[in-house]
Amino acid sequence: MAHTIVIFGASGDLTSRKLIPALYQLHCKGRLPGATRIVGSARTAFSDDPWRAKLAQDTARAAGELDAQRWSAFASQLYYRRGDAGRAADMAELAAYLDALDGGTATRVYYLATLPQLYAQVVAQLGASGMARGQGERRVVIEKPFGSDLASARALNAAVHEVFDERQVFRIDHYLGKETVQNILVFRFANAIFEPLWNRNYIDHVQITAAEEVLVGSRAGFYEQAGVLRDMFQNHLLQLLTFTAMEAPARFEADLVRNEKVKVLQAIRPLRGEEAARHSVRGQYEGYRGEPGVSADSQVATFAALKLYVDNWRWQGVPFYVRSGKAMDCRTTQIVIQFCDVPHHLFPLPPGRRLEANRLVIHIQPAEGIQLHFHTKVPDAGMQIRLTHLDFRFDDRFGTGLPDAYERLLLDVLTGDASLFARSDEVELAWGIIDPILAAWDAGQPPLHIYPRGSWGPQASRDWIEADGRAWLDVCPVLRSAPSAP
Ligand code: BG6
Repeated sequence: MAHTIVIFGASGDLTSRKLIPALYQLHCKGRLPGATRIVGSARTAFSDDPWRAKLAQDTARAAGELDAQRWSAFASQLYYRRGDAGRAADMAELAAYLDALDGGTATRVYYLATLPQLYAQVVAQLGASGMARGQGERRVVIEKPFGSDLASARALNAAVHEVFDERQVFRIDHYLGKETVQNILVFRFANAIFEPLWNRNYIDHVQITAAEEVLVGSRAGFYEQAGVLRDMFQNHLLQLLTFTAMEAPARFEADLVRNEKVKVLQAIRPLRGEEAARHSVRGQYEGYRGEPGVSADSQVATFAALKLYVDNWRWQGVPFYVRSGKAMDCRTTQIVIQFCDVPHHLFPLPPGRRLEANRLVIHIQPAEGIQLHFHTKVPDAGMQIRLTHLDFRFDDRFGTGLPDAYERLLLDVLTGDASLFARSDEVELAWGIIDPILAAWDAGQPPLHIYPRGSWGPQASRDWIEADGRAWLDVCPVLRSAPSAP
């Protein structure tokens, strides 16, 4: 079966940094379905050959060396059509071009990598030009951000549904393409030993951290509108939370998996007004207001921490502390499952030392693996005990590096598997959680704290969690290089 991928916004960064390198890797691994053509479309003046030459350079930068033979086979299936996807005449011309290219019977994937404010327009033009229906399957991939609040997400969903059925729509959250994120489900539902403990009886709380070292840099135009809640929480962090908290679906099928995620989002207690002020911390890194394109009195948060409750039988009373920030001490995304303390302390501890409870640390990136922290006896030291850990690391066990998230997601779109894509109700529920917090913040509560670059966020974030008798696990995972092949 032939496939045609049409990328709108093809002259942009996402295409050259992520999409084409991922498609090239799939080609090299022999995973692209036979006769996959890729057509780029944008307003920039290019033709096939100059576009191929530019992509060769960009892909070499992203992927290291290119294999000349493989690249030339891959590049022979790359095409470029200049056009404005918002203009009916250009879209009609593209439709005719595609019909001539693939005969109209191929499975078509329309990838929206344009500016988000153009999504609705492009979708409308796909409908008006007859490109959303045909003899072959028609699918549309929509990049984040999907809306900027609940109202705009609803409006975009409505515009998309005017043209496409929900089963044709693939809303990307690249976190779901990460192997370590998918492994949360495997770890939980392919092993019997942790699931009995995975609830309010044994878990004291959960911490989800996505810390980044990078600053906002050249993205100020976007970031000033978005801030950390829209940029990281509405999508990536809530996705990590749903994978951690959801029930096992009856089968690993798109709608069954997404139904379980939706139930978690429905159970998250909304933080409104006073609750939002008490259950969130917001911060901005020192010097943010001096970044090019940032207003001198910007109130935009580059750090946030939220305390969320999932009001259901499994999780009642267990706080999920979720935080993310730019300009942090190190880059790490991790989920800490903090188990409850032992019911009775048997072994004496030195004065002032508290027995730490067991924890499971799921390292999403850049370390990729799982650690179980538990106590052990210090040898030849009486009954002294120490917290130690068992480590699993993907690179130790499997040798090779993990593929980029876009490889898996693009392949799933080509095969029509939507399990790792957000459904319309999921996106709207996630905005429903974020909107009231944004409203409270806009009203000035809680205060915005300035934090030093290279830290773990404002001191207020530490004080806030410590007021609950808990502490952040502020640890930069130690990375080891992959073992050399035997
Ligand atoms: C993007 C955000 O969605 O995710 C960026 O817009 C952020 O601000 C990025 O840096 C983080 O992705 P990753 O895969 O590097 O964790």
